Amino acid sequence: MNNSTDNHKFALTTPLYYVNGVPHIGSAYTTIVADAVARFQRLQGKSVLFITGTDEHGQKIQRTATEQGLEPQVHCDRIVESFKSLWEQLNIQYDRFSRTTASEHQTIVNEFFERVWKQGDIYLDRQQGWYCVSCEEFKEDRELIEDHHCAIHTNKQAEWRDEQNYFFRLSKYQQQLEELCESQPDFIQPVSRRNEVLNFIKQGLKDFSISRVNLDWGFPIPVDEEHTIYVWFDALLGYITALLEPGQEPSLDNALSQWWPINLHLIGKDILRFHAVYWPAMLASAGLPLPKRVFGHGFLTKDGLKMGKTLGNTIDPFDLVDRYGSDAVRYYFLKEIELGKDGDFNETRFINVLNADLANDLGNLLNRTLGMLTKYCQGNGPQLTSTDYSSDHPLKSIGMDLGDRVIQAYKNLQFSQACQEILTLVRASNKYIDDSAPWSLFKQEKQTEVEQILYAVLESVRLSAYLLSPIIPNISSKIYQQLGFDWDFNSHQQAQAKENFPIHSSWGKLSTNKTLGKASPIFSKLELPSED
Ligand code: MSP
Repeated sequence: MNNSTDNHKFALTTPLYYVNGVPHIGSAYTTIVADAVARFQRLQGKSVLFITGTDEHGQKIQRTATEQGLEPQVHCDRIVESFKSLWEQLNIQYDRFSRTTASEHQTIVNEFFERVWKQGDIYLDRQQGWYCVSCEEFKEDRELIEDHHCAIHTNKQAEWRDEQNYFFRLSKYQQQLEELCESQPDFIQPVSRRNEVLNFIKQGLKDFSISRVNLDWGFPIPVDEEHTIYVWFDALLGYITALLEPGQEPSLDNALSQWWPINLHLIGKDILRFHAVYWPAMLASAGLPLPKRVFGHGFLTKDGLKMGKTLGNTIDPFDLVDRYGSDAVRYYFLKEIELGKDGDFNETRFINVLNADLANDLGNLLNRTLGMLTKYCQGNGPQLTSTDYSSDHPLKSIGMDLGDRVIQAYKNLQFSQACQEILTLVRASNKYIDDSAPWSLFKQEKQTEVEQILYAVLESVRLSAYLLSPIIPNISSKIYQQLGFDWDFNSHQQAQAKENFPIHSSWGKLSTNKTLGKASPIFSKLELPSED
């Protein structure tokens, strides 16, 4: 376990998604955010391990497969393909796809179980309570609404269970978890979620059952074949299995040798308790260091309403990316929703935001500036650098420390803020061009001034593209290519080339002394779909 002090590595996870259906917009949202984090970390020269995958065991999956008349494994294999295909369409560059039905996973789960068993943290007892199959979780009365319906899955009734189960001694870790929250305030983010978890812990932690009877879709409990391991106990360990190198002998030691502890678990707020309470306690019981950070994002609504199949108002991520492209979808969710807060999707707003920011403010700026460069400078990039501008120059003054501010925002997972900061420079560039009117200076034969203006604007566009590249990698690459750089933000090698950092994130450090590429729109204006 050499990673804890290794600042060159960054491992992060999305949840392992249930395969009860094709991916929905919630899974797409978490994965888009994770991909932007991974790309940002690579841009900083880090070695990144980005883990996603699927959670395939348990009652919910078994029932879905039965309803479809399929063997559970066949069903899972089909759905896994649709996840992989969506990630491809959304330009998600994950490194590992962890499936809980993989055989090496069972070896890891068994070894982990035995460690916890040896600690004396597992015992057999009677479990009585209301179980929500959709959450795969026992619910307290206060967590249920009318007629024992689940507060999260309001159309699903929880089921009464009374059975012998193996329990994990969560209560033993009460004090340790409380201390963890107090002493490492950044362990759970944002702060509102941390407080939520702390309150939950302070109410007193109860042991939870980690086995089920009458369920065969899962791994048997190593010490008692009559019982199947609870899907959440199994799924969380999928994060560890994912750390094995392909083909590596599955053992905990091997899995933990390079990337543990994980730097960031990115999840939705509904599964916070599993990641911020159960998971650290399980790890502590097995004597393992804890992950560094758990970030719980908010929930998406559509046109202000909770989404649901029964309401018929879900957003199909495949359809969205099909119609608008991956960069547009990524940009909307990262810029328009402050990570950590609930956020809304509205198609008119979606179109307006993209047209305003990407087609107009950024795209037109590049297009018209390159046009002027062709006309006034024969397409040659002016040979200037930051030192040719005074520190109060309207673009230099914003551009100089923009990189630092945006990098800080990315580190804090404040994507919306990062975009706003970058847009400040883009908008200032538009205003600067309008105010300084290079077309009339050209007529007055003030060539040096014209070049000064065009370089300042192009360098601002370049810097904006660089800083936006974790969010809109395709558009950023197009901009770089039009500015004459042989550069692809989708290439790991280029993103990670340390010698390019921080030069690319500074204003006025890159010479555009080269023939620039051909101007073509980087983002075409979107139109609202017609009603029929
Ligand atoms: N299988 C578990 C995770 C196990 S991790 C070891 C699970 N899977 S899930 O498929 O239900 O998770 C979906 C992810 O999508 C969660 O992070 C959840 O918060 C997120 N969302 C589900 N609906 C959502 C919205 N309406 N809005 C935003 N995200 C939401 O839980």
